[in-house]
Amino acid sequence: MDYLMFQLEKEAKMPLYEQLYTEIKEAIINGTIEEGAKLPAKRKLADYLAVSQTTIEFAYSQLVAEGFISSEARKGFFVQNLEELALIKQESYVNVQEEKKEVDYLIDFSPGKIDTDSFPFTVWRKLAKDIISETNKDFLLLGDPQGDYALRQQIASYLYQSRGVKCTPEQIILGSGTEQIMPLIIRLLGKDAIYGVENPGYPLTHHLLVDDQQKSVPISVDAEGVIVSELEKTNATAMYVTPSHQFPTGAVLSASRRSQLLSWAYQKEYRYIIEDDYDSEFRYTGKPIPSLQGIDQNQRVIYLSTFSKSLMPSLRIAYAVLPKPLILQYKQKYSYYAATVPRMDQHLLATFMETGSFAKHLNKMRKIYKRKLEIITKTIMQYEPLVTISGEQAGMHLLLTIQSDKTEEELVLQAKKAGIRVYGVQEYMTGKLAVFTEPKLLLGFGGIKTEELISSITALIKALEITKTP
Ligand SMILES: Cc1ncc(COP(=O)(O)O)c(C=O)c1O
Repeated sequence: MDYLMFQLEKEAKMPLYEQLYTEIKEAIINGTIEEGAKLPAKRKLADYLAVSQTTIEFAYSQLVAEGFISSEARKGFFVQNLEELALIKQESYVNVQEEKKEVDYLIDFSPGKIDTDSFPFTVWRKLAKDIISETNKDFLLLGDPQGDYALRQQIASYLYQSRGVKCTPEQIILGSGTEQIMPLIIRLLGKDAIYGVENPGYPLTHHLLVDDQQKSVPISVDAEGVIVSELEKTNATAMYVTPSHQFPTGAVLSASRRSQLLSWAYQKEYRYIIEDDYDSEFRYTGKPIPSLQGIDQNQRVIYLSTFSKSLMPSLRIAYAVLPKPLILQYKQKYSYYAATVPRMDQHLLATFMETGSFAKHLNKMRKIYKRKLEIITKTIMQYEPLVTISGEQAGMHLLLTIQSDKTEEELVLQAKKAGIRVYGVQEYMTGKLAVFTEPKLLLGFGGIKTEELISSITALIKALEITKTP
């Protein structure tokens, strides 16, 4: 073994034995010292490094204790076959995460945040306490692979009342997030499926399709939502859409585009629409727009939604309503997979819905988000027409269109320098920017406290160097 690989700094704060321990450990992890290799004898290494034998002893015993090396009587110390690889991977994962977090923003207009101050902790805690009880021993065992019937029943009736979705609990599958359900749908639709995806669009869908090596075609979006005439010119067999509140532009798919999209699906067998209705609970103006699933006559809409916006993103509960032919396929192919949502959480949520707490929470949150929206609109109005708002009819994000000689990237950077995170629409594009010309910034407002909204928006406007209109 090359002794040169061990370099100790006598002036460093870290004790010498710890330096040696860390160096050897890292060399084992990255493979510089291979499995089975014999470590230098303690005395020889102590002489070489000009340290006491106790230093070497301390380092070696720590490595033995953690299982990196083993001690064999009268033979020496040998690098172990690392069963602890999981531990090693976890460590490097932590490093990656830490590196990725580039800046600590003072204000974060992330579209993924919710108003955490308004969560009904008391009710949730009580329900959790009731659920975690000896009377529910059954919840310790695996439940229905599609998710427990009690929750699917609640979801089916909620969807019918609030979104006009027509389904039975048997058609619903639960998963821990839209991101866990989409791969199942992709597998159900088969390798030959070609996906139309909104452009700009939800990046996760794009990533999932790329990761699954699935073909996709970007379809542009304008003020009326996805441009269906563009889709008609492609060979796509399934279209992923966010019709109630397009992500990220906030456009609502117009009535004529809705029927055009359904007609597109009906023209060929096996064409499907994947309707992601992720934030439709929060609609502030105009009549509620029925889901595509509710007006579909031919079982061609796969309806997806989540509790990430309506309750909390960390709950990780989303669901899909599969058309009847697909649910049969799903049962044949995938019933051997266990549900990915913990049963205690499923029952907690089912009770939360059944007792009316969910409806109450939604009403409360709708008012809070509407109030936030009003504050933003009023603040921004002072800067019109240099800044205009769109996509504010629903959800917890909107779009700002900025008249500026700067590019979108430059504006995002200016905001970043002022400690403000905003998201340029270009970040959500696949390929070239086709429809938009002016810079557009996505502003998620769910996570900003009501009392901090005016100052946050004003700080953003200042960072973008926009002056008040006289
Ligand atoms: C378009 C869209 N779909 C779905 C979701 C939710 O995904 P998940 O259920 O994985 O949290 C989001 C974000 O919250 C979204 O923006």
